[in-house]
Amino acid sequence: MHKDVEKVLFSEKELSVMVDKIAADVTADYKDKNLLLVCVLKGSVCFMADLMRKIDLDYKIEFLRAKSYLAGCSESCGEVEVKSEIANLEEYDVLIVEDIFDSGRTLEKVTAKMLSDGAKSVKCCSLLDKPERRAPSVKLQLDYVGKQIPNAFVVGYGLDYDENYRGLPYVGILKREVYEK
Ligand code: IMP
Ligand code: MG
Repeated sequence: MHKDVEKVLFSEKELSVMVDKIAADVTADYKDKNLLLVCVLKGSVCFMADLMRKIDLDYKIEFLRAKSYLAGCSESCGEVEVKSEIANLEEYDVLIVEDIFDSGRTLEKVTAKMLSDGAKSVKCCSLLDKPERRAPSVKLQLDYVGKQIPNAFVVGYGLDYDENYRGLPYVGILKREVYEK
């Protein structure tokens, strides 16, 4: 285990089971649709890569940037910036692939952007969900979720703190002393 990690929340094996379940549900739901997986960079890369290999359908992929955290800030800073240049969205049933649903502002903003850019339909999937942290203004609900977690700052499997720890194969709780120093 990494020295900055307090506790492993989900092992590689547990993450794999979570992704299997989401992939099976998506495969069943999108049989007659024109699926476009939209990965929210950068935190969702590991989840996206694993999900892609488990969805048993034809689909296309795209990536966009959304940033709600300033470097070195473990709390959502309120502002969300979405950068997307996806062409021909009107042809696609978009599934947004996110690492973690926290205040909810990122997915709400990305969903609104996909709809205003003309997507045929938009659903959201997130590997992790921190319900206690939801901003009161956020009404969006997840369509697919791996696991709900308590209010702790987690890293690994793509998730970072200040751009570190993304390559850990598990999801773990970061020691408080790392972000409170
Ligand atoms: P939201 O807009 O507050 O829902 O924030 C979502 C984004 O914040 C996620 O896509 C993550 O990039 C980041 N985030 C939220 N919680 C955590 C965490 O515990 N660890 C790492 N990143 C997090
Ligand atoms: Mg993210």
